[in-house]
Amino acid sequence: MKAVVWHGKEDVRVDNVPDPIIQESTDAIVRITSTAICGSDLHLYSKLSPLMREGDIIGHEPMGIVEEVGADVEHIAPGDRVVVPFNISCGHCYFCDQHLYSQCENTRDEGKLARSVNLLGRGRGASLFGYTHVYGAVPGGQAEYLRVPQAHFGPIKVPEGPSDERFLYLSDVLPTSWQALVYADVPEGGTLGVWGLGPIGQMCARMALHQGAGRVIGVDNVAERLSLASKWGVQTVDFSAVDNVRDVVLDLTDGRGLDAAIDAVGMEASGSVVGSILQATKLQLDRATALRECMSAIRRGGTLSISGVYAGPIQAFPLGDLFDMQIQVRMGQANVRRWVDDIMPLLGDEDPLGTEDLKTHELPLEEAPHGYEIFQKKQDGAIKCVLKP
Ligand SMILES: NC(=O)c1ccc[n+]([C@@H]2O[C@H](COP(=O)([O-])OP(=O)(O)OC[C@H]3O[C@@H](n4cnc5c(N)ncnc54)[C@H](O)[C@@H]3O)[C@@H](O)[C@H]2O)c1
Ligand SMILES: [Zn+2]
Ligand SMILES: [Zn+2]
Repeated sequence: MKAVVWHGKEDVRVDNVPDPIIQESTDAIVRITSTAICGSDLHLYSKLSPLMREGDIIGHEPMGIVEEVGADVEHIAPGDRVVVPFNISCGHCYFCDQHLYSQCENTRDEGKLARSVNLLGRGRGASLFGYTHVYGAVPGGQAEYLRVPQAHFGPIKVPEGPSDERFLYLSDVLPTSWQALVYADVPEGGTLGVWGLGPIGQMCARMALHQGAGRVIGVDNVAERLSLASKWGVQTVDFSAVDNVRDVVLDLTDGRGLDAAIDAVGMEASGSVVGSILQATKLQLDRATALRECMSAIRRGGTLSISGVYAGPIQAFPLGDLFDMQIQVRMGQANVRRWVDDIMPLLGDEDPLGTEDLKTHELPLEEAPHGYEIFQKKQDGAIKCVLKP
């Protein structure tokens, strides 16, 4: 089959690789019909290269048709239309029982690398599809076929009828945004700030307004992302057009700041020379510009919800200031299956979240390298690229 294979930093190719086969009684094989490129893929495309190996199949936002199931897979059958969550969870361990699916203890990577990268000596969480050698090194879903481990629990059956794009983002974007919003705990009528207006930030903003936030202020510097957000009722701030984002946000919020803020940027934040130098000199793996701005614009007693991915320590983290300001902080990988039942009713024909307008580019699988390039460089208006194997 054909699959998107990692060959090196900013070098992905479409290669012929062996077809996957059932290995365990809890596996399924899915023929992929749509598979998206995520902002998280940009991290392993570039900064997380040390955690990748040549030959890795990437991708974690797939959906398709079940081809074959193992003996212990009962809730799906060949011919079913399914979306595959990006985290691989058993559904019945200590953490899965608490809906902490991204912490599943039956799929964690127990390798030396996974154990060594955690500065607290606690290893990494549940395995993820197509995501490095600290998250299980599981072949990913940007491919014609995918072997789905733990398929007795993971895959989400979706109805026939609407386009793939109505449901595809259940694999990641929608549950990630939903969890970010739940964690942000915006009071009814309150003001939410969203840093980063990629797919995650766009959906956080739409969900917040749909769920009763009074106002959403969105920060980015990419023209088409700012204008898409304002089309959905977001008050936008172009961070490259103002001297100080914090002061602009404080002016908009009676000088007190936001009730809650979501960091939907993560480790590739742009806009700070210091951040770039720290990253280039390997003093700090993550660029924390957006995170710092986000923290500085929250009101006392407000909430910070981090959905952008960070990988390591941050220099001069203002812990004492967060303590003094009594800011609540919540974060983490999305526990995908936890939120599916909440989101599904919003994917009916009224499509209140506009899932189908997120896709800007549809490409055959063979053109994945081009998709990665335009998405990383924010060229040609790319916001979400969907590959069709
Ligand atoms: N927690 C999870 O489970 C989970 C799941 C999916 C994605 N993510 C993470 O969420 C983040 C966003 O994902 P995405 O797919 O929307 O990615 P994306 O790369 O499309 O979006 C990031 C956006 O941030 C903007 N940005 C860069 N620097 C900024 C700054 N200083 N201030 C404000 N905005 C800035 C960029 O212009 C871009 O529009 C990524 O870090 C991704 O890894 C986390
Ligand atoms: Zn993703
Ligand atoms: Zn589990």
